Amino acid sequence: MIENNKPIMILAIPGSLTATSSNLNILKAIAKIAAPNVVIDIFQGLDKLPHFNPEIKDPIPTVTYFKQRIKDADGVIFSTPEYAFGVPGVLKNALDWLVFTGELNEKPVAAISASPLYSGGDKALASLLLTLSALGTNMGTNSALSIADIKNKMSSSGAIIASETTSALQVILNDLVTRIVLGSPLI
Ligand SMILES: Cc1cc2nc3c(=O)[nH]c(=O)nc-3n(C[C@H](O)[C@H](O)[C@H](O)COP(=O)(O)O)c2cc1C
Repeated sequence: MIENNKPIMILAIPGSLTATSSNLNILKAIAKIAAPNVVIDIFQGLDKLPHFNPEIKDPIPTVTYFKQRIKDADGVIFSTPEYAFGVPGVLKNALDWLVFTGELNEKPVAAISASPLYSGGDKALASLLLTLSALGTNMGTNSALSIADIKNKMSSSGAIIASETTSALQVILNDLVTRIVLGSPLI
C-alpha cells in the first residue's frame, strides 16, 4: 500500500550466497537506476533460514523476520543463478516457508536469472516463475528477465557495463513499480 509521499519499498532477494555474486550485483545495479522515491532494500539472510519442515509449528526468529520483511515490502524482486538446471536450494527453501502463510500472495514481483552461460539460467527462471505463480504473486508482461553471458556484461567491480542490460533492468523495474502503484488503494 502506497501512502502519499511514502517511498515505494522493494525487497530485493539474491538467490546466491556468494560475496561476489553477479546476481547480487544486478540487484545493486537496480538500486542505482531506481527513481528517488523507490527504495531497493537488499535481503541477504537466506542462509539464516532453517530447512523448511511443515511440521515445525513454533515460530523461528529468522523465519518470522524474513516473513515480516516480505510483508512490509510493496514489491519483491529476485535475481538468481541457476544451479544444476534449477533454483538454488536456499531460494527454494525460503519460498517454501511462505507457502502456508501467504506473504507473497498478490504481492507484485519480478524475477531475473543471470548466468555466465548463453542459456542465461533460463531453466531456473522458468522454475522460479512456476513457484511464484503457485504462491499467488502478481506478475506482469515484463516481470521476468534472463541475462546471458553475465560476466561480459559486468565490470570486475560488479557494475553493469552493457547498456542493453541496464535498459532491460529498467524495463523490469518500471513494470514492477507500475504494478505496485496501480495496486495501491490510494491512487
Ligand atoms: C553448484 C553449481 C551449479 C551450477 N549450475 C549451473 C547451471 O545449471 N546453469 C548455469 O547457467 N550455470 C550454472 N552454474 C554457474 C553459475 O551460473 C555461476 O557460478 C554464476 O556466476 C552464479 O551466480 P552468482 O554469480 O550470482 O553467484 C553453476 C554453479 C554452481 C556453483
